[in-house]
Amino acid sequence: MVFNILTLFPGMVEAGLNTSILGRAAEKGLIRINAVDIRDFTENRHRRVDDYTYGGGAGMLMQAQPVYDAFLAAAGGRKHRVIYLTPQGRLFTQEYAAELAAEDEITLVCGHYEGIDERALEAMNAEPVSIGDYVLTGGELPAMVLVDAVSRLIPGVLGNHESADTESFGNGLLEYPQYSRPEEWMGMRVPEILLSGDHARVDAWRLEQSLLRTKERRPDLYEKYITEHPEEKAGKRAGNRKNTKKTHTGLQ
Ligand code: ADE
Repeated sequence: MVFNILTLFPGMVEAGLNTSILGRAAEKGLIRINAVDIRDFTENRHRRVDDYTYGGGAGMLMQAQPVYDAFLAAAGGRKHRVIYLTPQGRLFTQEYAAELAAEDEITLVCGHYEGIDERALEAMNAEPVSIGDYVLTGGELPAMVLVDAVSRLIPGVLGNHESADTESFGNGLLEYPQYSRPEEWMGMRVPEILLSGDHARVDAWRLEQSLLRTKERRPDLYEKYITEHPEEKAGKRAGNRKNTKKTHTGLQ
């Protein structure tokens, strides 16, 4: 999958995306990061990309011409999705990431200052996307967030040790707590059930922990999940009681 990233700071996105799992994915040819410097497409000798806004008001706007020419140079003529990172966009979610993972090329447009001249966004048919209800200084970090979330869903990007199937959101719940060696650390013991070797009880315990954690931390996700799985209410499941052998198989 090719990610064209139109930005004023190509070094920032290249450095961030050429490391760790995504760096390996690029080496293996599973993803390609094509960072394009918008400033290379200015037509004035000061290499300026911004100007005042019509109608007045504080702040500068990125002009349409260099942004659009960078777009044409990166991906012009190929039909593909173009995304503009902005707090005024559609909220980026796991579902949205899965939808984008099915594409083979996308272009991400990173704004700065007060944003980008609306005509360039229209000409590129850019879909506005937000990574959350807060305002960042530019679109680079949001673009990197999106590339990371989409790339890890591409087959082969995650190894066996980084499997994507049981984690948070895969089933609409937050992930259960996890423990590694030693069995006791700073006086805190690993929950006994995890040492029992009884996989059915471990699964039931994990599901219960996921439900409790989701209910406490993300009541919005919990309500949605419970509406779809009314039999799984946290604390109500037979599998959670110590003296029962009832097992859970309905999830994951
Ligand atoms: N640019 C600035 N803030 C942003 C956000 N929250 N999401 C996407 N792009 C942004």
